[in-house]
Amino acid sequence: MTRPTLIAPSILSANFAELGAEITRIDEAGADWIHLDVMDGHFVPNLTFGPPIIKAVRGATDKYFDAHLMVTNPDDLLGAYVDAGCQGITVHAEACTHLDRTLAAIREAGCRAGVSLNPHTSPDCLRYVLDKLDLILVMSVNPGFGGQSFLSSQLAKIAEIKEMVDGRDIDIQVDGGVTAANAADVVSAGANVLVAGSAVFKGGPAAYAENIAALR
Ligand code: DX5
Ligand code: ZN
Repeated sequence: MTRPTLIAPSILSANFAELGAEITRIDEAGADWIHLDVMDGHFVPNLTFGPPIIKAVRGATDKYFDAHLMVTNPDDLLGAYVDAGCQGITVHAEACTHLDRTLAAIREAGCRAGVSLNPHTSPDCLRYVLDKLDLILVMSVNPGFGGQSFLSSQLAKIAEIKEMVDGRDIDIQVDGGVTAANAADVVSAGANVLVAGSAVFKGGPAAYAENIAALR
C-alpha cells in the first residue's frame, strides 16, 4: 500500500503576530497537516509555544494538528496537548527514559503516537516499539530553528527506517531544510510526510499556495 505524500507546513516560520490567520491561510493554500513545533528552551535552545497557544488556534482550521514536542519532559503535559486539539503527538526518543510507556500513553489519550530522532540518533532504538508507533519523524536538521540546511546524511537513515517499518501502517516524516529542490530525494528515500517551514512561508501569504504546490 503506497501512502499518500502529505505536506505539513511548520508554523515556526509563520508570522506569530497573526498565528490564527496564518494557519487558516496555509489550510486554504493546500496544507495537509499543521506541524506544531513545541520547544521548551531546554531540549533545544529555543522556546516557542505550548498547549494554550495550540488551543487558541485550534479553531483556525479543521486540518490535522501534528505536535512535535522538542521538550525534556513530554510525559508531563500529554493531556494538555490532547485537550488543546492535537491529533498526533511526537516525542523525541532522546527525551524519553520509558519510550514504550510514553507511546502507549499517547495512544491511550486518543492520539496518534510519533517518535522523532535527532540527526545523530540511530533508528535501532525503535526496533522494539514499532508496534506502538503511528509515525517516525527523522530530523534533517539539528532541532531548534527554521531556515537551516538539509543534512543529506539523513537520506540513508530514512531508507533504513523504511526497511525497518517493512509495510507497517507507520508514517515516515522528515523535518528540517526540506525544499522543492530536495523533496523528491526525501520521498524516494522512503518518507511520505514532508515538514517545511521556510520553504512554505517564504515570500509571504501570496506565495503560500505556489510554495506548497512546488513541494508537492
Ligand atoms: C526545527 C523544526 C522544524 C523546522 C522546519 O527544529 O523542528 O520543523 O521548523 O523549518 P525549515 O523547513 O525552515 O527547516
Ligand atoms: Zn518540527
